[in-house]
Amino acid sequence: MNTAGHGLLAGKKGVIFGALNDKSIAWAIAEAVYREGGRFALSNAPMAQRLGTLQELAQKTDSPLLWADATSDKDLQAAFEDAKAALGPLDFIVHAIGMGVNVRKRRSYEQLRYNWYIKTLDISAVSLHRIVHHALECGALADGASIVALSYIGAQRSFSKYQEMGDAKALLESIVRTWGARLGARKIRINAISQSPTRTTAGQGIAGFDAMYEYGNRLSPLGNADAASCADYTVTLLSDLARMVTMQTLYHDGGFSSMGITDEIVEALNAS
Ligand SMILES: NC(=O)c1ccc[n+]([C@@H]2O[C@H](COP(=O)([O-])OP(=O)(O)OC[C@H]3O[C@@H](n4cnc5c(N)ncnc54)[C@H](O)[C@@H]3O)[C@@H](O)[C@H]2O)c1
Repeated sequence: MNTAGHGLLAGKKGVIFGALNDKSIAWAIAEAVYREGGRFALSNAPMAQRLGTLQELAQKTDSPLLWADATSDKDLQAAFEDAKAALGPLDFIVHAIGMGVNVRKRRSYEQLRYNWYIKTLDISAVSLHRIVHHALECGALADGASIVALSYIGAQRSFSKYQEMGDAKALLESIVRTWGARLGARKIRINAISQSPTRTTAGQGIAGFDAMYEYGNRLSPLGNADAASCADYTVTLLSDLARMVTMQTLYHDGGFSSMGITDEIVEALNAS
């Protein structure tokens, strides 16, 4: 693992949404951005003050904390006003927010509770639209800024246990493309990283997560990508090196998305 850093984000400022504890992908991203010279505010929902350990990360990286529910226009407006006041124009935003309410409550896709479903879409996908909207409205985004959101291949393919979250990620990736077309005039980029199953609080809220994790690990030529490698990949997208990349879903999954079957799986099936 790279511990020294290369100054890839020296001088860049941003906001990172979604670090809850040291298992969070956003936590690893914050550490990698910090290592590369980037500085940021950390944001999470007010309830994360009780459930997580974000204060610890804020102390370690000397970052302001912005408590904002990503489904609240009022909270996001205030968060971007505060971010702008603390950091000046923002060069990057990381959206690492997700929650499947029916999935959490073990409600099947066939029997979705629609108010929970709408909440899932609001938290996991519409929040990206809101975040970009409020960042622009309050004049917080610098020209040439880079926005990254975290997704999963359940947006394109059906994974039985991922259920409503597949719909949420499909919407998230569509919002990436639809905003991207509009942000290009200011050279602002927006992309989704489609990440391997990762052992985090959100990941492990999914029934059957261990099987999805194991399946990904066996099928991917490189194995599952972990949070630290996802963080390094995120750094490249936030850096100027990726300045012409926008509106993409980029697979960070050890090769999983290009695989069909392996000899090992054929042999295991033959033997059973
Ligand atoms: N863990 C995986 O297997 C995996 C795989 C691919 C993509 N992802 C995505 O990565 C992102 C980060 O998730 P993670 O796996 O690090 O889990 P995590 O539980 O650490 O992070 C999810 C975050 O969403 C925040 N959140 C929930 N509701 C919110 C709200 N209303 N307002 C603001 N924040 C809210 C939570 O507080 C938490 O910090 C999510 O988009 C997730 O879908 C995860």
